[in-house]
Amino acid sequence: MCGITGYIGFRKAKPVLLQALAKLEYRGYDSAGIAVLHEGMVQVRKMKGPLKALATRLATEPIEGAIGIGHTRWATHGEPSDVNSHPHTDVSGRIAVVHNGIIENYAALKAWLCDRGGIFISETDTEVVAHLINYYYQNVPQGPWEDRLLYAVRRALSRITGSYALAVISADVPDRLIAARKDSPLIVGLGEGEQFIASDVPALLAYTREVYFLEEGEVAVVYRDTVELFTEQGEPVDRTPTHIDWDLAAAEKGGYAHFMLKEIHDQPKAYTDTLRSRLVREGQDWAVKVEEIPLDHTWAAAPRIVLTACGTAWHAAMVGKYAFERFARIPVEVDIASEYRYRNPVFNPQDIFIVISQSGETADTLAAMRLAKKGGARIVAITNAVGSTLSREADQVMYTWAGPEIAVASTKAFTTQLMCLYLLALKLGTLRGCLRDANPYLQSLTEAADKTAVLLRRKEQIQRFAARQFNKNKVFFMGRQFDYAVSLEGALKLKEISYTHSEAFAAGELKHGPIALVDTHTLVVALATQGELFDKIASNIREVTARGAATAVITWEGEGEAAFHEVAQEVFTLPRIEDSLSPLLSVIPAQLFAYYCAVQRGNDPDKPRNLAKSVTVE
Ligand code: AGP
Repeated sequence: MCGITGYIGFRKAKPVLLQALAKLEYRGYDSAGIAVLHEGMVQVRKMKGPLKALATRLATEPIEGAIGIGHTRWATHGEPSDVNSHPHTDVSGRIAVVHNGIIENYAALKAWLCDRGGIFISETDTEVVAHLINYYYQNVPQGPWEDRLLYAVRRALSRITGSYALAVISADVPDRLIAARKDSPLIVGLGEGEQFIASDVPALLAYTREVYFLEEGEVAVVYRDTVELFTEQGEPVDRTPTHIDWDLAAAEKGGYAHFMLKEIHDQPKAYTDTLRSRLVREGQDWAVKVEEIPLDHTWAAAPRIVLTACGTAWHAAMVGKYAFERFARIPVEVDIASEYRYRNPVFNPQDIFIVISQSGETADTLAAMRLAKKGGARIVAITNAVGSTLSREADQVMYTWAGPEIAVASTKAFTTQLMCLYLLALKLGTLRGCLRDANPYLQSLTEAADKTAVLLRRKEQIQRFAARQFNKNKVFFMGRQFDYAVSLEGALKLKEISYTHSEAFAAGELKHGPIALVDTHTLVVALATQGELFDKIASNIREVTARGAATAVITWEGEGEAAFHEVAQEVFTLPRIEDSLSPLLSVIPAQLFAYYCAVQRGNDPDKPRNLAKSVTVE
């Protein structure tokens, strides 16, 4: 998730921009850059690597000026590199742009601009914005000179599909910055004789606590002494500034106590971002368009899908197995990457081999992928990290677009992996003729974001439950099919950050061993979202209740609540979607439970002991 900033005022812009970018580092980035206006020129310094490398370079190649923009890039289009770093300039080098978001129609715009003399030097989607602004800047029909940049920005924005937070400067109009937002956050900080722009509050707190949060579609023209706001339609906006009273540490986490809690709350937006441009309306129907993966007859004819991953990503693979089998009626094999790599697996070059990893750098996952590649398999990667080793070595890559995940315990990276797998499974089901009407399922996918938001608003129930249960000796999660996969994830989350002994088992296995462990010090959390199996799971809950365990169930509101309110001691309900898509919602209470137990135990959920975010060694 990129960070953007801007400054106009009486100070030197460079140190202000660098300081602001340092406060946005937590968002994750792979390169950084600034552009400053000085003596009628746009000066740009940008490079791959950490901000301190940019600062070192700026010490030997200084740039002056009191108006500028800055950026930390988290690569989406094009690998992390100097040339792909922001700011990007137009062909004249007189307009510079920084951008956070995704320009979905950048390829069409690029072609259109190339036909009109545009010459592109990067692989980014953002560069088209600089060229497009310049195009309209050069083709202003009428109007005063000083409105020309605003006109050009607004015309350019009207051509863009996708999400953006943008900041623009022009050497021709050195008294202003222009900023705009749609589906990506942007804040204007208000000072005395100086103003600021940033993706997030922490970048501004050293200078001001009075801010405007730009609304969807709004454009801000930012001068040294004043700020003008406009709606998407160009109407002036009158707004009272918001006073920020968060401390700096809270501000970096968006006001949440921990990154993990923030990332749990990021999930509705992450779902929307994952689906953006991949699930589109075609008349009355929904259509899956995953352009990065040619879902053609070779997919339809594949004899088998193999999924491999580690940890949480392996749990996503488990959900993927149930989804591919259910929707596409195709045999699926799932294996833990560290097992797969040493078990001399049988390859079939026609198989589709899907490798899942949020970081794209997990040693065992990469080894499994390389082994399969050697065996002739086609490799499809599902990852959150653009430019990662996995994304470079796979044949095709589907990005999860979850944004950077800072907490070690994976939450939004996991749920967006599920979303990608559901899209692929539903598409394959249609291609193979196994799914006559995917619409109800695709409709449910579009509702997952809002329903997750509803679920998050019920978090106090989980917090209260965690306050009562956090010191249990043992916690078991159980479920069947999709619910078994989510049980595995619930148990892993809890053990990772609360250090409670927690395990998951397929509920049908209860009598085959695990029930021997159940006693009055045990909490059993049942997942019950598969309607046809309610009776079975209710019997399992009764069996553990009889041995003195405390019990909770995660189930649907309505029929689930009715089926379980007299069976389990605590019932967490989920807004209704299709049974087979339940993991998109049912994992959220499990994530929150783990989080609140960790906090109750006095642990730092963001940095659990002995664990690393990216496991790059065996
Ligand atoms: C998740 O909470 C864990 N930190 C861990 O299991 C993780 O999912 C695993 O190490 C795989 O990581 P990856 O997705 O980056 O490959």
